Amino acid sequence: MQETRAIPGYTFGTSAIARSPVTLGDFELMKKSILFDDGDVKYLRLSRGIVEDQVEAILDVWYGFVASQPHLLASFTGSGDGKPLGDYLGAVRRRFGQWILDTADAEYDQRWLDYQHEIGLRHHRAKKNRTDGAASTAIVPFRDLFALIYPVTFTLKPFLTGKGHTAEEVEKMYAAWLKSCLLQMTLWTYPYVKEGDF
Ligand code: HEM
Repeated sequence: MQETRAIPGYTFGTSAIARSPVTLGDFELMKKSILFDDGDVKYLRLSRGIVEDQVEAILDVWYGFVASQPHLLASFTGSGDGKPLGDYLGAVRRRFGQWILDTADAEYDQRWLDYQHEIGLRHHRAKKNRTDGAASTAIVPFRDLFALIYPVTFTLKPFLTGKGHTAEEVEKMYAAWLKSCLLQMTLWTYPYVKEGDF
């Protein structure tokens, strides 16, 4: 997580981040629920060497998908005129690129857990737009959030192939990414869930 201080709004591990209401103990149980173990960590690490020099190409695919769906692009548009906000899209894209590396590198410590909560708040009306000072819509609708896990992980798969790894290794990297995205997204939805029900 070096060279990241240069990314505006990327506050992983800083005092700007509040403590997650989810404990590391809770998270251990979430990992059990999804069958996430050290093998998954190993395959996420293996994927690091594959994704690190393809970050921009991966983002092109993911951003291309969001841009092709007006109901998704809406979260990046001006709340007044509904036009895409280029600066906002660009600023978020840099942190999204860092997130790809962070997902491969994750240590699952308190700092990581706290930043997960922050990412959730940034999708929710609690904090959306604030980091970039964007005049955009108030919230990323809950109904869109989980669903995006499928296109994100499905379209990642071609990037995991073609770098000399066996089909079994690719499958294991893919499964590890899918589980990690599901775990992270579950943490992100904390502010969307009725108090006491998470
Ligand atoms: C698997 C699904 C998703 C992933 C992995 C993802 C990932 C991310 C990441 C890493 C960030 C930047 C966090 C940071 O500030 O460090 C972000 C921000 C954002 N995402 Fe997502 N996201 C997902 C789903 C969605 C969906 C479905 C939408 C809406 C169509 C969306 C809209 C946004 C917006 C508007 C921001 C900026 C929030 C702000 O104002 O700070 N995301 N997302």
